[in-house]
Amino acid sequence: MDFKKCRKFHVFLVLVLVFVISYSASYKWLISGRTQDAGRSKVTILIWSWPVRVISTLRKDECWDSYHVPDCNLVNNRSLFSQADVVIYHNRELQNGVTKLPLDLPRPPAQKWVWFSLESPTHNGDLRRYGGLFNWTMTYQSDADISVPYGKLVPRRTKGNYTIPAKKTLACWVVSNYQSSHKRSKVYMSLKSLIPVEVYGRWANKPLNHDQVLPTISQCYFYLAFENSVHTDYITEKLWYNAFLAGTVPVVLGPPRANYEAYIPKDSFIHVDDFASIKELATFLNELASDKERYDSYFRWRSDYDVKRYHSWSERFCKICEIYERLPPRKIYDDLDSWSRHEP
Ligand SMILES: *[C@@H]1O[C@H](CO)[C@@H](O)[C@H](O)[C@H]1NC(C)=O
Ligand SMILES: *[C@@H]1O[C@H](CO)[C@@H](O)[C@H](O)[C@H]1NC(C)=O
Ligand SMILES: *[C@@H]1O[C@H](CO)[C@@H](O)[C@H](O)[C@H]1NC(C)=O
Repeated sequence: MDFKKCRKFHVFLVLVLVFVISYSASYKWLISGRTQDAGRSKVTILIWSWPVRVISTLRKDECWDSYHVPDCNLVNNRSLFSQADVVIYHNRELQNGVTKLPLDLPRPPAQKWVWFSLESPTHNGDLRRYGGLFNWTMTYQSDADISVPYGKLVPRRTKGNYTIPAKKTLACWVVSNYQSSHKRSKVYMSLKSLIPVEVYGRWANKPLNHDQVLPTISQCYFYLAFENSVHTDYITEKLWYNAFLAGTVPVVLGPPRANYEAYIPKDSFIHVDDFASIKELATFLNELASDKERYDSYFRWRSDYDVKRYHSWSERFCKICEIYERLPPRKIYDDLDSWSRHEP
């Protein structure tokens, strides 16, 4: 090959290369709508309002530094609105007027607005005025675009066998918001007329500091993991934290047993609905507490699984980047109110 030909060939190669790179970059940009950061695509997620007014300070690369989620730019500086791929709005702050939707700002066409709530439909309020504004939902429901359950089981990584904490109290309950109209209050009232139930929390005038909760509950054979309202998938920290992390057996009141079994083994909990009456439930709990082998069998799953909880709001938000490519590219919730009330 003579020198001239060779140079032409090189120029040709360079041109092809430039074309391929720019084409794939723009193609990637087109399909994902992501902002480009030095050729690498990074999703920018703007937290418009922190849930329950907890303003956390974010690290410079929060998702990578704290949770090893790459290419995820989690920010809470509202002046980055026009650059954000995703903007998260927490329902409660919209509802109580602490924050407003930025309807006055020009909204980038590819930007997704996320409606975020971990409350059940009973406590989300009237959402009719939010129709046609949001693109994605982020809730505990399994069919939300971004589903964030209160906890989950993960394959066990802890070494050694699980040790069941020593027990001295039959049944315990922590309640701060007691309302006699709640189904759970009625069940509690009948139960406590039959067996001793130790109650903690504001309502009982026995508040527990955060660091007292687990050690206190761990001494109970059973924990009343009673939800404040009954909805599909609405299985909260009452089960994951108060009962499971404390090392006790949950007695659950919430969605039907089959729904719980989608999350946890069937022999890890007792369901109020398993019994024809509260009297039968009380008898069962008494018997189970005095039959060590049978009681211990409720902990068998712990040799295979650990309980995973979300540590922070950021951890949940960083999850969006992990599933970003699989989220629907075009979507509008025209009737958010109806959606928020549906049962998956
Ligand atoms: C928010 O971002 C703007 C624009 O990038 C910057 O000028 C400002 O200092 C930032 N504010 C904070 C609190 O980081
Ligand atoms: C764990 O439990 C199994 C079966 O119950 C037993 O064979 C094993 O020795 C235990 N391991 C430890 C580390 O205690
Ligand atoms: C997001 O929702 C807004 C408001 O309904 C809508 O105008 C926009 O087209 C939606 N964006 C996508 C990418 O679906």
